[in-house]
Amino acid sequence: MKTELVNPNIKNFIKSFRDVGYTFEIAVADILDNSISANATEINIYIVPSPKLFFCMLDNGKGMSEKELVEAMRLATKNPEEEREKKDLGRFGLGLKTASFSQCKKLTVLSKKDGIVSIRQWDLDYISSTNQWLLITPNLSDFKDTPLVDELNSLESGTLVIWEEIDRYKEESFSTNIEKLRKHLSLVFHRFLEGSDSFTKLKISINNSLLKPFDPFNTNNDATFRKSSEKIKIYDSMIEVTPYILPHHSKVSRQEWEEYSTSDGYIKSQGFYLYRTNRLLIHGTWWGLHKAIDAHKLVRIKIDISNKQDSYWGIDIKKSTANPMPEIKKDLKRIILEVTKEGLKPFVKRDRKINDKTTTRFWTTIPNNEEFRFGLNKEHPIYQKLLTSLSEDGISLLNIYLKGLEAYLPLSAIQSQLQQNPHKVKQEQALSDEDIEKLVVKLQSSGLSQEYIDSLLKTEIFKNKKGLLEDE
Ligand SMILES: Nc1ncnc2c1ncn2[C@@H]1O[C@H](COP(=O)(O)OP(=O)(O)OP(=O)(O)O)[C@@H](O)[C@H]1O
Ligand SMILES: [Mg+2]
Repeated sequence: MKTELVNPNIKNFIKSFRDVGYTFEIAVADILDNSISANATEINIYIVPSPKLFFCMLDNGKGMSEKELVEAMRLATKNPEEEREKKDLGRFGLGLKTASFSQCKKLTVLSKKDGIVSIRQWDLDYISSTNQWLLITPNLSDFKDTPLVDELNSLESGTLVIWEEIDRYKEESFSTNIEKLRKHLSLVFHRFLEGSDSFTKLKISINNSLLKPFDPFNTNNDATFRKSSEKIKIYDSMIEVTPYILPHHSKVSRQEWEEYSTSDGYIKSQGFYLYRTNRLLIHGTWWGLHKAIDAHKLVRIKIDISNKQDSYWGIDIKKSTANPMPEIKKDLKRIILEVTKEGLKPFVKRDRKINDKTTTRFWTTIPNNEEFRFGLNKEHPIYQKLLTSLSEDGISLLNIYLKGLEAYLPLSAIQSQLQQNPHKVKQEQALSDEDIEKLVVKLQSSGLSQEYIDSLLKTEIFKNKKGLLEDE
């Protein structure tokens, strides 16, 4: 067989390799995975935005020997098909390098194991100029003033990852990336930050400020509805699916409502939350199995998988996209149907309220063949009273005015405000207690039958203010 060796043009290859689509926060999460796999319990991230962007991350995990460190720096150091330990978050043997190179041109790793600190460095400019993957061993003494190096030295074991020549961002606007990073890590690693029976609590700090876990299901709130978990067998392993419905905005404070809406908002945050060995990989997607609609915005469905099932989920190198196999989709579709029925309940209940017979309401729904509209209740005792006190002209003018109110009820604006700022919409403030007291005086001066008082007591205005009418 005639062959010839054609090596890739490394300089060009590196350029494409750097553009696999990592964002800053996804890249940091990827190297943080390694620390968790190395059993770290404490992670310190240090970011200096100026005069030169600098990033480093120290863990107190098991560390690496010099030989292990060289192997860790190798691209594709592990076989993606090889089975990993249960808690290992890795798969491809690439993350440390791909994530780092997506952000910076110089990656240095210092690692301590058995009392010995080893160091290695990839410098993309050097690789490009030599057209060879030549791994550098820098002088340890050159790093003695580098942030977190002293801390590494004082640990029994651990690893420090350093990014220099971060060339993707403007230094001035980097603070937004730090904010995004905080939010991303608090969400993606929330179970580790919370701690559980099966693993110790993890501490992560960014520039000395500790991260708090962000549980996207708000499970601490009693108003969160949790459906029972379901285990589904896929070939030789199990996945566990647990649907949640977050509390309706009337059940939480404005601050809590906004916190759980996340920066994406409720509508975009509905859908599946896929956890692989407790680490959140993907969130807020229906994988095309369902439409993201307003009525289902509080539905979030947790899926737990192990690290043995990657091939069933099409997990990519960045571990930020996945797509379930067709075999799984059928069950997921059924679960969506079951839970969205529940998801609709709070809304249906509200809709029903308007037609509930024990209260006399201002508004009602008026059916018209297959359609309906919101209309004013002409049986309302105050309207009825008006009819007796107005002239014919007055009544017809009033009716036109009321029909106009019905016809031009600003439904879209109401819907959009309720979506965006539900806690700012204070509609009932339109009718103050003072107004109601005045109304009572007026009505009483015109003489009231017991029957009329009874009908007024059934209205929204007096349902919670019985004393006002009855005491008289
Ligand atoms: N912080 C760390 N502590 C100890 N060992 C580490 C650390 N970071 C990396 N390693 C070692 O280096 C190897 C390569 O890491 P890398 O992130 O490149 O790939 P991976 O984690 O195996 O797979 P993936 O590509 O899915 O991230 C790891 O498997 C691990 O053995
Ligand atoms: Mg990794």
